Amino acid sequence: MMAHTLQLTAEGRLRHFLTIEELNREILLEILETAESFLSMSLHQVQKVPILRGKTIVNLFFENSTRTRTTFELAAKRLSADVLNINIATSATSKGESLLDTIRNLEAMHIDMFVVRHALSGAAHFIAQHVSSHISVINAGDGQHAHPTQAMLDMFTIRQYKKTFADLKVAIVGDILHSRVARSQIQALNILGVNEVRVIAPKTLLPVEVEQLGVTPYHDMVTGLEDIDVIIMLRLQKERMNSALLPSESEYFKCFGLTEKKLKLAKPDVIVMHPGPINRGVEIESSVADGKHSVILQQVSNGIAVRMAIISLAMQIQPFGA
Ligand code: CP
Repeated sequence: MMAHTLQLTAEGRLRHFLTIEELNREILLEILETAESFLSMSLHQVQKVPILRGKTIVNLFFENSTRTRTTFELAAKRLSADVLNINIATSATSKGESLLDTIRNLEAMHIDMFVVRHALSGAAHFIAQHVSSHISVINAGDGQHAHPTQAMLDMFTIRQYKKTFADLKVAIVGDILHSRVARSQIQALNILGVNEVRVIAPKTLLPVEVEQLGVTPYHDMVTGLEDIDVIIMLRLQKERMNSALLPSESEYFKCFGLTEKKLKLAKPDVIVMHPGPINRGVEIESSVADGKHSVILQQVSNGIAVRMAIISLAMQIQPFGA
């Protein structure tokens, strides 16, 4: 049994979903299996299940989002929960109310779950430490730290196309240094036991001692993409760069942008992924983003079933039995 942590109950079940790193293979597989069942339900036209009727989920996004916020809302609605989307720009936070006071006031409205995105690493963890015992917190992205639901929908998509994890070689390309998505993906890929995780980036966009994350670093696409089954492209997170880390976007595209020519360096059945938002002509050629190897929009669709699974498991509901 797994040690009791903030995000797990004493029995080792999910209570909050804050980070991948302290979870085990069984929990990650349970999320994937539960999502699989939700996905096959939606294929059979059953769009809604009543398992969260009477529960209220609050989307608390202090940073912009298109994919994560909307797929969380759809996931909650398909589980029959009530959903509140708090508009931070028009909320009392903009009048100086503290994060904790905002949380206390929302708690007083008898909510059951917070889905939190925040620019500060550790924000979701902080909220989880302060909420009442019946409330769950899900991290929808905190600073440069973690984006665990994105990593799980990416693992789901990889399994959908490649069936198993054991033999896979996965390359994550781009701004690893500032990417919460990359950190969570690397943890999940290693827990699920892929053959190799490579990171491909200029030295300025890799954390120091990156090998300690369980990856092999490469600084060029020609050697890095050789024999690769899955390519995950990342955007340059310019909003998190406080100095010039690159000569220019065009130079970056020339060296690290994924083009049709570079794609041929990987295995013939390689899949191309990207968490979004994509910047065409900066990290990825348009024809590759829209091409036959791309599963980028499938990742977005899968986000609904995976988030349905994570919401219901964190609420201690096992929709398809133990
Ligand atoms: N992948 C992702 O987090 O996208 P959004 O910022 O649109 O939610």
